[in-house]
Amino acid sequence: MTALLKETLVGTELKLPGALDIRGLSKEYRIEGKPLPVLENINLRVNAGEFVSIVGASGCGKSSLLRLIVGLEAEYSGDILLDGQRIEATSLERGIVFQDHRLFPWKTVEQNVALALKNHKLPAAEKTRLVAEHVKLVNLQGFEQAYPHQLSGGMAQRAAIARALINKPKILLLDEPFGALDALTRINLQRELQRIWVQQRSTMIMVTHDVEEALYLGDRVIVMDARPGRIRHEIKVDLPHPRDRASPVLQKLKEQLLSELIGSDLDAAKAH
Ligand SMILES: Nc1ncnc2c1ncn2[C@@H]1O[C@H](COP(=O)(O)OP(=O)(O)OP(=O)(O)O)[C@@H](O)[C@H]1O
Ligand SMILES: [Mg+2]
Repeated sequence: MTALLKETLVGTELKLPGALDIRGLSKEYRIEGKPLPVLENINLRVNAGEFVSIVGASGCGKSSLLRLIVGLEAEYSGDILLDGQRIEATSLERGIVFQDHRLFPWKTVEQNVALALKNHKLPAAEKTRLVAEHVKLVNLQGFEQAYPHQLSGGMAQRAAIARALINKPKILLLDEPFGALDALTRINLQRELQRIWVQQRSTMIMVTHDVEEALYLGDRVIVMDARPGRIRHEIKVDLPHPRDRASPVLQKLKEQLLSELIGSDLDAAKAH
């Protein structure tokens, strides 16, 4: 490869969309007039196309952080920049998947996924093609006409992922997306998500309580502390994707991460 071509390719790579830059982010809520600091001085840079997992005790502000990134909360101090633009409201360029699928019960899989394209001025045939493509991406072919109550929990979550991806978001946020699923379905969906991410390489940030899941999927795992929520530590998972769940490196990192999380619980207990 010539030096010039290499430089051009590197240049192109730098311009990939979906780079997130969080600087000095703090957030407080008010409960009965009293301030409740929830996030304190969060600094986090996520590269375009990176997969970052976030773990931390319940109540440390993980969901609040995702809500801020997706633009559901406009009041905060510091900066949240996506490709240099400050985030202040929701946008189709940021998608989110929650623990519960939030599909409309009176609409079919196909209609639920298509609804995400409502505000796009695309020809109907193109919308139909995109819906079919995304239903296939999450392996739901044959269930296009099914209603949410006719799906298993894992299938409904697949539909929610298809709905979030159909707008080709620069960044996809996942808040415990597999938290309500049984262990086997969960492993299956982790593998599927990894496949989708490898294929699409959009930036993804996933909150989870499952240490193994965080390490299996993440290029990095961010560990948060509570009251107020802040970043304590990060673990780099230097393994190529797709990964082997049984990899000794992952096992070792799992032990390290677990002892850190359990250690922080013990510290918190001592402080009380
Ligand atoms: N809309 C709100 N108004 C007031 N306080 C809130 C609001 N949303 C969250 N909080 C508070 O912010 C803190 C962080 O909540 P958050 O839901 O972000 O935690 P979390 O890390 O996602 O927890 P979990 O792991 O249990 O989901 C909690 O103390 C919660 O009470
Ligand atoms: Mg939460």
